Amino acid sequence: MTPGRLPGDPATVSRMVRVDHAGEYGAARIYAGQLAVLGGGAQGPLLRHMAAQEQRHLETFNTMAGERRVRPSALLPLWHLAGFTLGAVTAALGERAAMACTVAVEEAIDAHYTRQIDALPESETGLRATLTAFRAEEREHRDSALANGAERAPGYRLLIGAIKAGCRVAIAVSERI
Ligand SMILES: [Fe+2]
Ligand SMILES: [Fe+2]
Repeated sequence: MTPGRLPGDPATVSRMVRVDHAGEYGAARIYAGQLAVLGGGAQGPLLRHMAAQEQRHLETFNTMAGERRVRPSALLPLWHLAGFTLGAVTAALGERAAMACTVAVEEAIDAHYTRQIDALPESETGLRATLTAFRAEEREHRDSALANGAERAPGYRLLIGAIKAGCRVAIAVSERI
């Protein structure tokens, strides 16, 4: 948190909505990239299920940003391209690498939502409930990916380390820009 700002500061909550909107936008693009490569394969139904949930997360934050007059991240065009590329490239490496990508992204988002839930002011009951519900679905995505061979992807540790580091940078940047 920026020094001098209290958790209940409206600017703090605006930054939360901005980064969450950007994150869900990126997540939807990652699954779009994976589906472009693997949509016709054995994991197609699972990928479509997770993509549909990301789309609902995105629409929720879209609406919320409008209601709260939060400016969306100026970097959406970057996340549009980077998200799709990350999804398509990991999918091209194979189904297990795509699942490893999901583990990395969802673990980063799980930690991010947990930090936000802890930092939210008491009065933000609606937003807290939304974040808690979405976090449960992100954890489901991670568990589905683990159940579908993520850890057997070649270079699993390296892959998820790199993707998680990228997610942390994207989160830090999207809170501000
Ligand atoms: Fe999501
Ligand atoms: Fe997710």
